[in-house]
Amino acid sequence: MNIVLFGPPGSGKGTQAARLKERFSLRHVSTGDLLREAVAAQSDLGRKVEGIMASGELVSDDIVLELIKEAAEATKNDAASEGWMLDGFPRTIAQAEGLTALLDAEGDKIDAVVVLEVDRDAVIERLSARRSCPECKAVYSLLVSPPATEGVCDKCRGTLVHREDDRPETIANRLDVYERQTHPILEHLEGRVAIHRIDGTAPVDEVSRAIEAALT
Ligand code: AP5
Repeated sequence: MNIVLFGPPGSGKGTQAARLKERFSLRHVSTGDLLREAVAAQSDLGRKVEGIMASGELVSDDIVLELIKEAAEATKNDAASEGWMLDGFPRTIAQAEGLTALLDAEGDKIDAVVVLEVDRDAVIERLSARRSCPECKAVYSLLVSPPATEGVCDKCRGTLVHREDDRPETIANRLDVYERQTHPILEHLEGRVAIHRIDGTAPVDEVSRAIEAALT
């Protein structure tokens, strides 16, 4: 099964991806994680995209499509998985078209799009309270799932960070960018692929159950 996890910043895509990955044996590809790794490594790519990400704007389609091609190539012989899950991609109509072309060439397709619906106020509240582990990618919420020790990752003991783009003014821009450039993809995909709209404001376990029910 191949799925796209879709939704505004902070809607819970990463949180649900960590669960769905195990439940359905999927390869998880997050363009946000790939870009943050490049920034952390201060590679040429990382230096190029750092400022764009910090401002909440989108990295160029060319760069992101190239990352997706590399990720697909690197994981295509992964016999342990039963499909893939894209998180944070596609984010523009051009990326959606690029993905379709890539899949057509491989004789592959998207089976379902899962949309996590969360309103603007909830996103601002959540992202202000999010803490992330740059080492193992674990995500915490100071509101609903705080770490056992403040500032320390329960899983790998790494130091938790408040992401640079989780500042209030950047969150607002990310939400605007989502409405303007990303949300219209749903209209573009309507009728071509199954789209499951899930209430992302419910507690995490309930959201997981609703997604599983939609996909099985
Ligand atoms: P990216 O990393 O993809 O960020 P995003 O899409 O903005 O999503 P987030 O990671 O902020 O949130 P999430 O939906 O994963 O929520 P989470 O599970 O963490 O992109 C970052 C940047 O990279 C972009 O702005 C852009 O610059 C660039 N980029 C990336 N992909 C790109 C692309 N394809 N094209 C161009 N540029 C690209 O949850 C959030 C918080 O809420 C956490 O604290 C969590 O614990 C909590 N939470 C989760 N679920 C619940 C719940 N049900 N109830 C209460 N709290 C919850």
